[in-house]
Amino acid sequence: MKPRIVVARPIFPQVLDKLSHSFEVSANQSDTPWSSASWTAALATCQGALTTGADPINASVLAACPGLRICANMAVGYNNFDVPAMTAAQVVATNTPDVLTETTADFGFALMMATARRMAESEHFLRAGRWTQWRYDLFAGAEVHGSTLGILGMGRIGQAIARRGAHGFGMKVIYHNRSRLNEATEAELRATWVPKPELFAQADHVVLVLPYSPAVHHTVGVAELGLMKPTATLVNIARGGIVDENALIAALRERRISAAGLDVFEGEPQVNPGLLALDNVVLTPHIASATTATRLKMAHLAADNLIAFFQTGRALTPLNEVAP
Ligand code: 8YV
Repeated sequence: MKPRIVVARPIFPQVLDKLSHSFEVSANQSDTPWSSASWTAALATCQGALTTGADPINASVLAACPGLRICANMAVGYNNFDVPAMTAAQVVATNTPDVLTETTADFGFALMMATARRMAESEHFLRAGRWTQWRYDLFAGAEVHGSTLGILGMGRIGQAIARRGAHGFGMKVIYHNRSRLNEATEAELRATWVPKPELFAQADHVVLVLPYSPAVHHTVGVAELGLMKPTATLVNIARGGIVDENALIAALRERRISAAGLDVFEGEPQVNPGLLALDNVVLTPHIASATTATRLKMAHLAADNLIAFFQTGRALTPLNEVAP
């Protein structure tokens, strides 16, 4: 008998096909996400699951799924998983590190540039037929090359953004992270560790790339925004909950900071109407890892985690240790 797995969201047909060689697959291929009751009901009959960042695995879900042995997240972030509860229930958790690092860094950099150079706002202006003449200050934005890039969270993606900034754009890179990088890595990235308040005060462009946990909820709020330069921009490609959106909306509306680029939102896929009403924001629907090649690699790695676990007892990129 093949183990039963559930695939929570639409996925590449070739990955579904690969999974069906090893598993009895029940898959939600419709565009409508399952309700939480249907999700738990589907999971309750399965030994494995391929999840996305939007599918919660917590103590109450686990209580209804005694046969569950592994959940493979198609994401590097895993704040949808309660990992201690999974370990206690002897459920292996996996994510998809490395395969999306450079693609996500490309997007973070692009969002920072689009925000600094007012690309979305100026495109809307052009499409609305409002472009009538050249003006010296038409959508004049903030300089990117040679400016100061502040990176909060210096893991793999943060480092890849630092490399782009320092080596490609001659930026001065400052960063804040709980643990400092070793000297050799700091030298290679040309990045300098600074205390968090200094990062907000000195950076021309702040990019948030730290993993989400309740401990970092609203890490960027009134106080941090208050430290930023009025000309500075803020980019979030991490998780919506890291930024106090209402505080950000007020700061943007009152031009206490210049602009923001957001790929993630507190209540996504719902977006705060206060953000939608602003000109000085670039808003994208959580697509930082979305190139076809990278999403395919993520889906294959999630699938391979399930296959390896059921074939060998060991997942490829586990987040916890579970006794066999
Ligand atoms: C995912 C992400 O596409 O990897 C992550 O942590 O945020 C994105 O790459 C998203 O979480 C869906 O799983």
